[in-house]
Amino acid sequence: MQVIRTIKELSVLEKSKTVVLVPTMGALHEGHRKLIQEGSTLKTDNVTLIVSIYINPIQFNDAVDLEKYPRTIDEDYKMCEEEGVDIIFMPSDSEMYPSRPLVNVTETSLSKGLCGSKRPGHFDGVCTVVTKLFNLIKPNYAVFGKKDYQQLSVIRQLVKDLNYDIKIVAVDTQREVNGLAISSRNQQLTTKEKEKSAVIYKALNAMAKSSRTVSSEIIDLGKSILEEESKCIHIDYIEIVDRTNLNKLEIIDRPALAAIAVKVGKTRLIDNIEIDFE
Ligand code: PAF
Repeated sequence: MQVIRTIKELSVLEKSKTVVLVPTMGALHEGHRKLIQEGSTLKTDNVTLIVSIYINPIQFNDAVDLEKYPRTIDEDYKMCEEEGVDIIFMPSDSEMYPSRPLVNVTETSLSKGLCGSKRPGHFDGVCTVVTKLFNLIKPNYAVFGKKDYQQLSVIRQLVKDLNYDIKIVAVDTQREVNGLAISSRNQQLTTKEKEKSAVIYKALNAMAKSSRTVSSEIIDLGKSILEEESKCIHIDYIEIVDRTNLNKLEIIDRPALAAIAVKVGKTRLIDNIEIDFE
């Protein structure tokens, strides 16, 4: 496994090889392991599997959040080694942003609701760094998790609108035994908070299984379940959206997504579930 820290060194990538990219911000966990493993299934002799590890400052709209973001580089190397990653691309801030970027990439629709409305500028930061990674690494495949469903939708749109010849591979959310979606941010939770946070998936599951079709009623059901832990968990949003355009849905008459964001102590957690329409 090779660790590349500069853009110049990326020239070692052989043009004849297929490149699979798993973009991450490090603090790798079992969810990332699954993304890397999905990337590995595309691996033949002629494939280079690259994991990028870069905490992208411009997607954080809160300096404390950026500072608190977990950094576990030794464990990250270990996981990449175990999973047969060929290259870790781990640039510095000055390598990625030698000066404050004056050009940003903005998605103007899918990124506006859900987390976009709560974290101004977040998706501009994501789109900008992912565009840079795509331009630098030129992957044929890029792997993203469904836990960040909105991010996945925005990236798919970016690939389409900017004519990237990249196939986006979407991977199901990995969960703890109690159902909590695995996330780097879980490291910031106490054991008790982790236990209590199981209620998020409980709420999502009840919403997906509900026989109701009026979104507000399903949202109320989800809210009532989350409120069982109201001492510990504060709802940021709970919404039902159309899975294609992420617009709010009043009636479930097409494939939908129930999405929840909560604050557990100081930690913000998100999760979602697909609601199918028959
Ligand atoms: O999902 C993440 O970890 C980040 O948003 C990404 C896609 C690596 C961009 O910084």
